[in-house]
Amino acid sequence: MEDAISGKSVLVVGASAGIGRESAAAFARAGARVMAVGRREEKLRELADDVELEWCAADITHPGEPQRLVSETVRVFGGIDILLNVAAASPMVAIVDIATDDFLSVFASNVVGPSEVCKAALPHLNENAFVGFVSSETVGRPRHGLVPYGVSKAALEELVNGWRVEHPNIRFSTIRVGATIGTDFGRDFDGELIGRFLDEWIRGGHLSAEMMNPLSVGVEMAELVAVAYLQPTVGLTDFSLRPPGPLASLG
Ligand SMILES: NC(=O)c1ccc[n+]([C@@H]2O[C@H](COP(=O)([O-])OP(=O)(O)OC[C@H]3O[C@@H](n4cnc5c(N)ncnc54)[C@H](OP(=O)(O)O)[C@@H]3O)[C@@H](O)[C@H]2O)c1
Repeated sequence: MEDAISGKSVLVVGASAGIGRESAAAFARAGARVMAVGRREEKLRELADDVELEWCAADITHPGEPQRLVSETVRVFGGIDILLNVAAASPMVAIVDIATDDFLSVFASNVVGPSEVCKAALPHLNENAFVGFVSSETVGRPRHGLVPYGVSKAALEELVNGWRVEHPNIRFSTIRVGATIGTDFGRDFDGELIGRFLDEWIRGGHLSAEMMNPLSVGVEMAELVAVAYLQPTVGLTDFSLRPPGPLASLG
């Protein structure tokens, strides 16, 4: 990976926690110049204490913020070789119970925000740039409690297809991820609801017995993106990172 991306500029949106944090750290350790973005400044400071990178606290759902974080990246690095959109958020809630504002927020953070970042970055992408968007294995396999989220990821995947059609000279990629434990994604989930929905996931054959961890997924993602970046004549349009092994069973 070092040979592929040493000195290259990498913008990771959603790098203050979880998979994005580990991906950003892996890129930085491989010698890339990394801009890490998330809303929580203290988490970004901690990351910058661990590994040498730049950071910018921004909320991609706020008007003007995608443009500001891209401007900051361009000011520091001059251009962008790799853009990785990892940011996402969601409540765990049944469709019948989700408040309209919460549904709109899911789309703001998981679809519109990443698209706005891409839009702002477009004029600053260097030759052979690679743009990856992180999706989820729940697309096409809806599961209790995460339907609005899954719908937003399905929309994100179609958005990536659309970006590719409108800008065929840029390599866009969808990166599907499976169950990964130890991230901040479920930090506000209701414990009782999780228990109920997890049983439904197991009944539906949606849950693997073993989950992945953010370090392994983040490092693997960075390495695959670096390999893809190195081959400008090949478009890696999509790939998946899923837990190997059997499904979980009840009892
Ligand atoms: N964990 C899983 O099992 C799993 C499974 C399938 C797919 N995925 C996907 O993998 C990606 C990473 O998930 P994760 O589990 O690592 O979650 P995570 O730990 O919650 O990380 C999400 C990141 O996105 C940032 N973010 C969220 N909303 C943002 C906003 N409005 N503006 C800027 N940054 C924002 C968060 O930081 P702040 O809170 O500081 O803003 C955080 O850095 C997501 O796209 C998720 O959908 C995860």
